Amino acid sequence: MSQPPRRINPPRRLRGAVIVPGDKSISHRAAILNAVAAGPATVENFLPADDCLATLDCLRALGVSWSLERSSDESARLSLTGQGIGGLRESADTLDARNSGTTMRLLAGLLAGRPFLSIITGDESLRSRPMGRVILPLREMGAQISGRDGDSLAPLTIRGGPLRGIHHRSPVASAQVKSALLLAGLQAEGETTLEEPARSRDHTERMLRAMGADLREEGNALRLSPLRQDLTPLSLRVPGDFSAAAFWLVAGALHPDAEISLSDVGVNPTRTGLLDALRKMGADITVSGERQQGGEPVADLRVRSSKLKGIVVEGPAVVRLIDEVPALAVAAALARGRTVISDVGELRAKESDRILATAQELRKLGARVEERPDGLIIEGVETLQGAPCDSRGDHRLAMALAVAGTVARGETALSGAEAVGISYPGFWKHLAELESG
Ligand code: S3P
Repeated sequence: MSQPPRRINPPRRLRGAVIVPGDKSISHRAAILNAVAAGPATVENFLPADDCLATLDCLRALGVSWSLERSSDESARLSLTGQGIGGLRESADTLDARNSGTTMRLLAGLLAGRPFLSIITGDESLRSRPMGRVILPLREMGAQISGRDGDSLAPLTIRGGPLRGIHHRSPVASAQVKSALLLAGLQAEGETTLEEPARSRDHTERMLRAMGADLREEGNALRLSPLRQDLTPLSLRVPGDFSAAAFWLVAGALHPDAEISLSDVGVNPTRTGLLDALRKMGADITVSGERQQGGEPVADLRVRSSKLKGIVVEGPAVVRLIDEVPALAVAAALARGRTVISDVGELRAKESDRILATAQELRKLGARVEERPDGLIIEGVETLQGAPCDSRGDHRLAMALAVAGTVARGETALSGAEAVGISYPGFWKHLAELESG
C-alpha cells in the first residue's frame, strides 16, 4: 500500500553531525562471503536496510544460520557461521532478491557452482533489469542458467554444477557482474581472468583477499585461482556508506545556512567520484582523519554552504559516481551555468531509468534538465520551486528529490518517500535532526 506523500519544506538551516548507515555494497559482500567461509564471523555496523535483508533471507533459505542485533534503524551486528562453500543447501522455495540487483547477480554467480537447483526472482523493477550480462559469461563457464525473455531477465533458473575458468572482457564496468564471476571462479576448474572498461568498485576483491583467496591484479585484468581451501571468516566493521553521505554533501553545499559533519564514511577511491565533482563545482568539503577500517579507507567529511558552478562529467571515471548522479543533478540544477553529464547510459538499467526519472522529476521542481541518451544536460537556475513529485520507487531518486525539497521555495510533496528504506531507513530522521541542528 502506498503511503501519503511526504511534505518537505525548506528548513532555515541544516546543521549538525550525521552518522550515515553502513555501506550497502560492503554489507552484502560481508554476508555472502562469510556465509561460505568456514567458521563464525561478526559484522559490526551491518546495514539492516531492505536490500541487505533480502540477501540475508536468501542466505537463510540456502541453509546459512545468522542472527541480527539492531542497535538503530541503520546499524546492526550480524553474526553468522559459514559451513564452507559446500555447506550451502538447495532452497525449498524460490529465492527472492526483492529490489536488490546486488543480491540477484552475486548469488547467481555463487549458485552457478553449487550442485542443486536455484530459482531467483525479484520485484517488478528487478525483473526488468538486464541479467544477460551475468547469464552469458556464467554459461561460458559451463553453468546451466537461464532467464525469461531469451535469457535476459529474471527470474533466473540455475542448475548448479562444475564450472571452468574463463577470460572475460565485460562490455560494462559493473561490480555486480565482476563479483558474480569471481564467486563462480572460486569454484571453477582453472583460473578466471576478468577485464572491464573502467575500474568498478573493488569491495569484493579487497574482502576476498583478506579471506585468503588467491586474487591478483595484472595490468587491467584480475586473475583469480580457484579455492584450494575454504575462505577464512572475516569479522569487520562496515564503513559508513559514501552513497548515503552523498545526499548530505549536496544538501550542505546547496543550503545557504549549512554545516554538516559526517564521520566514519567509506572513501574507497572507486566510490568517491561525487566528492571530486562537487569540489570541482566549488563545494567547501573537507576530508580528515583518513584511516583503514575493515580493509577499506574511511574518513570524516565536513561540508559547508557553497556557491557552485557547472562542470562537465564524462568518460570512464563516471563509474566512480554512477549511483550519485541523481544527487549530482540536484547540485547542478542550482549551480551557475551548465553541467553536462555524459557516458552514464548504465543509469537506464538501475532501480528506475534514472536518466529519464531524474530529468522528469527535477523539471517538476523548476529545474532546467535535458535528457540525452547517455546522460543529462542541466542549466542552473536561481531557485527551485517546491511541487508534487514521485520517487518512482527508487531510493536514490527519493533522497535526491528530498534534498531538492530542502533548498526549493515552498512545499515539495514527495510520493513514494518510503523507498529510502531500501538503503537508508533513517534518512528522514537524520534530515529532521539537521533541520533542528
Ligand atoms: C553495486 C554495483 C553497481 C551499483 C549498485 C551496487 C554493487 O551496480 O550501481 O548500486 O554493490 O556491486 P552495477 O554493478 O550494475 O554497475
